[in-house]
Amino acid sequence: MKCILMHKNTEVLVAEYNNVSKFFDEIIEIKNIEYSPLSLSNLYNNYDETQFKIALSDWFKGRGIPSWRDKLDILLVRLNIKTPEELLDKAFGLSLSDQYWIKPLDANITYDDINFFDHDFEYSEFMTASLSNNEINITSTNSLKTPNNTTDGMLKKAWIIKDSKRCLLKSGYKNEILQPFNEVLASMICNRLNFEHVPYTLEVINNKVVSSCECFINKDTEFIPASQILNGITKNKSKKDYFNYIKILEDHGITNAKEKLENMYILDFLIMNEDRHLNNFGIIRDVNNLKWLDVAPIFDNGQSLNVIAYDSDELAISGEGRFFYNIETFDNIIKIVDNIKRIDVNKLDGIVEEFDELLTKYKNITGISDDRIHKLCILLNRQINKLKNIINVQD
Ligand SMILES: Nc1ncnc2c1ncn2[C@@H]1O[C@H](COP(=O)(O)OP(=O)(O)OP(=O)(O)O)[C@@H](O)[C@H]1O
Ligand SMILES: [Mg+2]
Repeated sequence: MKCILMHKNTEVLVAEYNNVSKFFDEIIEIKNIEYSPLSLSNLYNNYDETQFKIALSDWFKGRGIPSWRDKLDILLVRLNIKTPEELLDKAFGLSLSDQYWIKPLDANITYDDINFFDHDFEYSEFMTASLSNNEINITSTNSLKTPNNTTDGMLKKAWIIKDSKRCLLKSGYKNEILQPFNEVLASMICNRLNFEHVPYTLEVINNKVVSSCECFINKDTEFIPASQILNGITKNKSKKDYFNYIKILEDHGITNAKEKLENMYILDFLIMNEDRHLNNFGIIRDVNNLKWLDVAPIFDNGQSLNVIAYDSDELAISGEGRFFYNIETFDNIIKIVDNIKRIDVNKLDGIVEEFDELLTKYKNITGISDDRIHKLCILLNRQINKLKNIINVQD
């Protein structure tokens, strides 16, 4: 199929897409390379068609649901498809996180005709197929014309529409129930410390507690993850990567990048977030003029408070987080914060009790034990006290 890679209304390139191999077989014409995903524009200076085709195909495949999505096999059966890439053909590869889409060359359609920001989509069957234990097989083809075809990430999730707003629901991993609560805890902390963030709330869907957050992108913006920004740049596997990243953002006009990144690492320290990989932070770009607008609000904070290492017999207290290409202790990562005294940690007073109440409130649904709630509160309290100590000793 001859198609055009579109960026909202701009034609980026024309290529031949093979619906069977799911590979771009030929690059026919490059029209506006500056609008392409960064991983492709970075390759353009030393253009080699083979490499470019591979990068384009990888990038496009990467828009689909990843192979490591929790219970992907069950989801595919319920959707009656064999691979996540099949979904990319169903709704032009449109997303609610960026503005790329694939237009068949001869199709007479525009972004305004099809985008999911303006146009509602059927979400109920996909939501049940993704988040519920109930047996369900998708019956309506409309249920496959949704932005759910292009969600990234390990957790089961679904885009839904609530009061006209696009919201992302996410559940826990396998039988774990804590992730949605951690998302809400992160929002509570960010609210109190005035960190820009995506607010998460809880919803009960089919007797399961999931987190819900509104889409932080609109028709004029898009999210670019740090992985794209750093693509093609030498990995130092040291603090240099962090400083390089800040420099790139500043060179693009984002002046407060350092403070906002520091805020993210302070949050990660407080909740012991182990999952700050390069797709879990980034920037917001203006789609119409390509201006880099700001650091993206903090999102995806669920893999925290030792959620993976929980053991009912003992309190696991050590922890490591992600710092660019490295895995490091939280005690080490927090050292990158220059002026930690700017944080008024007293604003967190009472938050442990609030988290305790939140976990207790949903106990009937989650089945979480009092013992685990107690342990989680000890951990959170311990991190807050550690931060207080760090603030007290900094010159
Ligand atoms: N509120 C939002 N608005 C727009 N896009 C979002 C929003 N939340 C998440 N995304 C996009 O969806 C992707 C997956 O979401 P998220 O990172 O929360 O899922 P996850 O399953 O927890 O991921 P991981 O594999 O990192 O654990 C994000 O990387 C981002 O591109
Ligand atoms: Mg994520």
